[in-house]
Amino acid sequence: MKKLKISLLLFAGVSLMTIVYSCKSNSPTAFTNATMKPWFENYCASCHANGAYNAGSWLYDPTNDQSIQEHIEHIYNEVYTKKTMPPSGLSQTELDKFKKWYDAGHPSN
Ligand code: HEC
Repeated sequence: MKKLKISLLLFAGVSLMTIVYSCKSNSPTAFTNATMKPWFENYCASCHANGAYNAGSWLYDPTNDQSIQEHIEHIYNEVYTKKTMPPSGLSQTELDKFKKWYDAGHPSN
């Protein structure tokens, strides 16, 4: 009986750890950055949001910033280095906003 209790406890502990760990690693962060959330909405969403337009391989997801964080170097390259995105171009002010955020570690909020 004691052995059973111990193994049940062990099982519960391992299950709990697995749940906590998978939540931590898989839950995407909400994108609430006051400057950059509207920035992406204004300049990218019209073509890159789901179903809007089949624009290359990058999909903007308005519910969280996972697709931004995962492709940040690619986005930096298109927006800041090559200045190919958005196709209409950006003013220096809008480019500076992006650069400042990128240099600060592109925070989600
Ligand atoms: C007017 C529509 C339009 C807007 C607005 C736009 N894009 Fe794009 N984007 C495209 C198209 C079309 C492609 C694919 C063709 C190409 O690579 O030129 C593309 C490609 C890309 C790619 C490369 C994907 C690949 O397959 O290599 C990235 C990254 C990207 N866009 C990021 C952005 C970001 C960030 C913004 C906002 C600052 C933005 N785009 C705004 C139309 C748009």
